[in-house]
Amino acid sequence: MDKIVIDGGVPLHGTLSASGAKNAALPILFATLLAPGEHRIANMPKLVDVSETLSLLGRIGCPSLAGSTTRIDTSRVVFCEAPYDVVRKMRASVLVLGPLLAREGTARVSLPGGCAIGVRPIDQHLKGLEALGCRFELEGGYVNGSTDGLRGAEIHLDVPTVTGTENIVMAAVLADGTSVIHNAAKEPEVADVCRFLTTLGARIEGIGTSTLTIDGVARLSPASRPYRIVPDRIETGTYLCAAATAGGDLEVLETDPTLITAVTEKLTEAGCTVEIGPRSVRVRREGPLHPIEVATAAYPGFPTDMQAQLMTVACMAEGRSVITETIFENRFMHAAELGRMGAHIETQGNVATVHGTGRLMSSPVMASDLRASAALVLAGLAAEGLTEVLRIYHLDRGYEDMVGKLRGVGARIGRVSDEVRDEARLQQALSA
Ligand code: EPZ
Repeated sequence: MDKIVIDGGVPLHGTLSASGAKNAALPILFATLLAPGEHRIANMPKLVDVSETLSLLGRIGCPSLAGSTTRIDTSRVVFCEAPYDVVRKMRASVLVLGPLLAREGTARVSLPGGCAIGVRPIDQHLKGLEALGCRFELEGGYVNGSTDGLRGAEIHLDVPTVTGTENIVMAAVLADGTSVIHNAAKEPEVADVCRFLTTLGARIEGIGTSTLTIDGVARLSPASRPYRIVPDRIETGTYLCAAATAGGDLEVLETDPTLITAVTEKLTEAGCTVEIGPRSVRVRREGPLHPIEVATAAYPGFPTDMQAQLMTVACMAEGRSVITETIFENRFMHAAELGRMGAHIETQGNVATVHGTGRLMSSPVMASDLRASAALVLAGLAAEGLTEVLRIYHLDRGYEDMVGKLRGVGARIGRVSDEVRDEARLQQALSA
């Protein structure tokens, strides 16, 4: 396994480009099952989760050619299962459920189980799919789904679940009749999946709102032109928080600033200078940061996927910040690791109080989940001396070439095997 080493305390300067959004790329790849034939998807991020998804689709019978424009041929389906060994590593594999039921009338998907940040049930996915005419049996940790034909339905979600909304939409587009989904998730990635589906011939109204109306069609077919995935707003926000944390002047290009207003407004409140361009966001931070208060919320509120990164920014502010996590029940693991770097953070239930001092100390720390890993890298950028972040396989799932992108804006950062201890080798990795 690898670790990231950072010689921190160096302000960041320069530009980097955002990649395509992980949380749009994954459902869109599964959605190609709905339209047999060859699809081309552009702006595909180079991530472990994307490779895992392509490998699962390969096992289902759909070969692909990975690249920034990824080609996948969904003409044939030979296997209607998402096995436990795949789902336990990537819970987003549950997104194969809707497409397989719509196309083949059958699907066997391992229950994802919990993960580091919470229980993360799929009851709403099943509730919506049942309303459309699917039947499910739970057996041996698997969901066995079947249907004799999908029919349009009116569905009221108890929770605006992102992947739940996506699973239900991907079935409803091929149902007989009209479906209306109330309390649908409004995240930009859900809207991107819906837009992709319309390029295949799906009929969806209310895209980007909490009420989606889908008129089912008999069949869908691959679009004639490549579909370009929306920029990753969470990756963008992560690098903006890196500049706020380490200081300096950093601009993220190839992004969509309108998707992260909750983040840019919070960074402005914290004392950063934020400049918004048509396809770029620039953050400058020279002086001290002010403490902030934030509660995560469904879109367009402050994203839960940015909570860990903002906690690192709060450590660099002088004063008391309060962060409330309203989406997941256990998403403060990074607080203990930041504590190893000298942060003073009290957590009580879903509220974290950060007593920021404006400083962090370098230390070996351990990542626990994707966004916590990012938060620890940001902390290493600010802490004087050598910080090591272990278990960065979490990071590779959702950030394309983070080391390369941060190097490009002046960070002294490298990646080595986690067995390397020798100081000279570690220093060498910083400028390799
Ligand atoms: C998606 O996960 C994202 N993943 C997550 O990003 C993100 O944190 C999350 O949405 C919230 O924005 C992908 O899109 C692949 P939810 P998802 O269903 O769909 C409860 C990252 O770092 N719930 O919207 O699994 C659930 O327990 C990842 O990129 C039910 O109760 O999240 C949670 O408390 C992490 N029943 C809340 O809803 C259900 O059937 C939101 O979960 C489904 C969800």
